[in-house]
Amino acid sequence: MTNSGTSGYGHSAAHPSLALIKYWGKADSVENLPATPSLAVTLDGLKTETSVWISRSTSGENTTDAVFIDGVLQEKNRFEPFFRDFRKLMGKKMPGLGVFSIKAESSSDFPSAAGLASSSSGFAALACACNDAAEADLTREELSALARIGSASAARSLYGGFTSLGEGKKHAKQLFNENWWPEFRIIILELEKEPKEISSRQAMEQTRLTSPYYNAWVKDSVDLMSEAEAALRDKNLEILGPIIRKSYLRMFATMFAADPPVIYWKPVSLGVIRLCEKMRSEGISVWETMDAGPQVKLFCTENETGKILSRLEAVFPDIRARVCTPGSAPV
Ligand code: DP6
Repeated sequence: MTNSGTSGYGHSAAHPSLALIKYWGKADSVENLPATPSLAVTLDGLKTETSVWISRSTSGENTTDAVFIDGVLQEKNRFEPFFRDFRKLMGKKMPGLGVFSIKAESSSDFPSAAGLASSSSGFAALACACNDAAEADLTREELSALARIGSASAARSLYGGFTSLGEGKKHAKQLFNENWWPEFRIIILELEKEPKEISSRQAMEQTRLTSPYYNAWVKDSVDLMSEAEAALRDKNLEILGPIIRKSYLRMFATMFAADPPVIYWKPVSLGVIRLCEKMRSEGISVWETMDAGPQVKLFCTENETGKILSRLEAVFPDIRARVCTPGSAPV
């Protein structure tokens, strides 16, 4: 934004962050701090692009902010904490900006709100585009913390490669960059396009408040996290795979025990899980995970990808599969 102008434009493209060790539950719901540590990979094959326009208010009064996803105006309350924090930051760093309103337009090349981590790439791209529009020069850590207010998984999308967000932490960090494990592959399966019935935010809170297994889940995640970090450092999928599996299955066990229970799985999700078990029994190293939705994501190495895709194709010919490698930070 120029000093003389009344408006600024910014743009960013960010990749979603897929967790190997899951964040599920909040230590602080106002600050949106995670109760569990998470370890994730940024996915190069999927992308959210966001444009932001910042307009200075001439009357000195805030005008309304607006966020459009695929042309559809979004509910304000989902974005309010993010914009509140962005304004707080600008008040400190760019006092000359004064009072302003924000308009954002965002679109992804994959379905939104269907358990494909669109909120991670969405809030990461929004944070970077706001920074760009205001010419604010926020640091990576500040951007990660800002994105976290919108969605905690988005804190991780600010970095490329393999990332972590510690329990109770404000910003994520990079563990290894995108070139660390060149053979590592992630296969994203789009099993259902429908938006999920219950948002991850609501489901997470329901789990925290009502699941008798919640405290055990939080405690156990810390051990899984350190085991996973060590296996990743050794690039050992035979050790990492079973830890990835424990993390998502224990997360879902906690959700199933909530009251009312949270069940994101569809019959086809279980079908893919069973097929992975079968492939493993035949010596193929493929490890699945799931998030807040029915989609299943697979981890493997490059040399097994072709075999896995043809097995999937034979049993589920209608499923869309995208093969990703560890991706880069937002641009
Ligand atoms: C299952 O980051 O979408 O994908 O912070 O409430 O916006 P909020 O939740 P969000 O939750 C992601 C949960 C998960 C696991 C993960 O990505 O770690």
